Amino acid sequence: MELSRRTVMAGAAAASVAAATTTGGAAHAAGGRGKPVRTLFGRLADGTKVHSWSLENGGTRMRVLSYGGIVQSLEVPDRRGRYANVSLGFDTLEDYVASSPYFGALIGRYGNRIGKGRFTLDGTAYQLSVNDGDNSLHGGARGFDKRVWDVEPFAAGSDVGLRLHHTSADGEMGYPGTLRTTVTYTLTRKGDWRIDYEATTDRATVVNLTHHVYWNLAGESSGTVLDHELSIAASHYTPVDSGLIPTGDLAKVAGTPFDFRRAKPVGRDIRTAHQQMLYGKGFDHNWVLDKGATGRPEHAAMLRDPASGRTLRIATNEPGLQFYSGNFLDGSLVGTGGRVYRQGDALCLETQHFPDSPNQPAFPSTVLRPGETYRTTTVHSFGV
Ligand code: BGC
Repeated sequence: MELSRRTVMAGAAAASVAAATTTGGAAHAAGGRGKPVRTLFGRLADGTKVHSWSLENGGTRMRVLSYGGIVQSLEVPDRRGRYANVSLGFDTLEDYVASSPYFGALIGRYGNRIGKGRFTLDGTAYQLSVNDGDNSLHGGARGFDKRVWDVEPFAAGSDVGLRLHHTSADGEMGYPGTLRTTVTYTLTRKGDWRIDYEATTDRATVVNLTHHVYWNLAGESSGTVLDHELSIAASHYTPVDSGLIPTGDLAKVAGTPFDFRRAKPVGRDIRTAHQQMLYGKGFDHNWVLDKGATGRPEHAAMLRDPASGRTLRIATNEPGLQFYSGNFLDGSLVGTGGRVYRQGDALCLETQHFPDSPNQPAFPSTVLRPGETYRTTTVHSFGV
């Protein structure tokens, strides 16, 4: 069933995607857990090959591209065991390259915004690539979401996964230091998707890596997520200016649309005429997790789709979480399911340090120095 839906496509890329589907399907049919299977997904304009990797464990199935480390699809069962792809994406490499609002992508060097793309570190001023009005967003014009990563598959103990490597040159997108990055995607025996980020540098720099899956637990192309119930373990958030740069305040969520301490439908307060909602065109803010930065991943948020029963729990050792309610999806992109994506059709839960930290001395530091190793972990647990 899944195979026929995906193979109904036109164009040259269809053949490679169909091949990927067949191979992935075979891996699934073989009982799931096993070494990830690689197929050709497409080629970039300069001829560089992009591969698609299929992996499965504990009832979770994923397809990951070497381009941007993109999670092209992530399938989990509903309460009756029926699978759906709960992550927005495209069928072809051409679509990802042409224009993607970071669907499923790895984000670096700096997840979220840096005001005016400028910061000063150890007395030196740096100017980054500016790609969002006056600001730098998600690493600049060509961030980690647009790089081809070296992918190394593994099956170890009861885990299967992929190690993705990228070396970002000193000065790339304006950032100082050669940044050697390894991001590990692990599917555990329980079907959790765990992301371990690691980076080192040869000059002092700033780093804030995150991930940009657009979740719709009812299945991509099924409509909006406004009836999904969300809770975020945070009593404060970081209010922003009209360019979505934090003012530096930590504001209380109590009595505002930002109060998700108890689960509530995403759509309940989304039309409240609160100045912050007008700036974000909905929710597009960083929540200050009550647990703070922790040595191990701790609970941050939970999402639940009442209709399918699917749930997603997020644990992280990061101090912040960007909840973005898909406000800029404007009906101009056609997704994997062949349908148009519109505002509110998905939401992102991006674990992170706070936006614009390099310019906010009171925020937890994002500075990485030679000899140190940047390490963060986020775990996505699926259930019904
Ligand atoms: C940001 C949004 C932005 C989106 C890009 C999110 O992480 O918070 O403001 O529009 O990424 O698709």
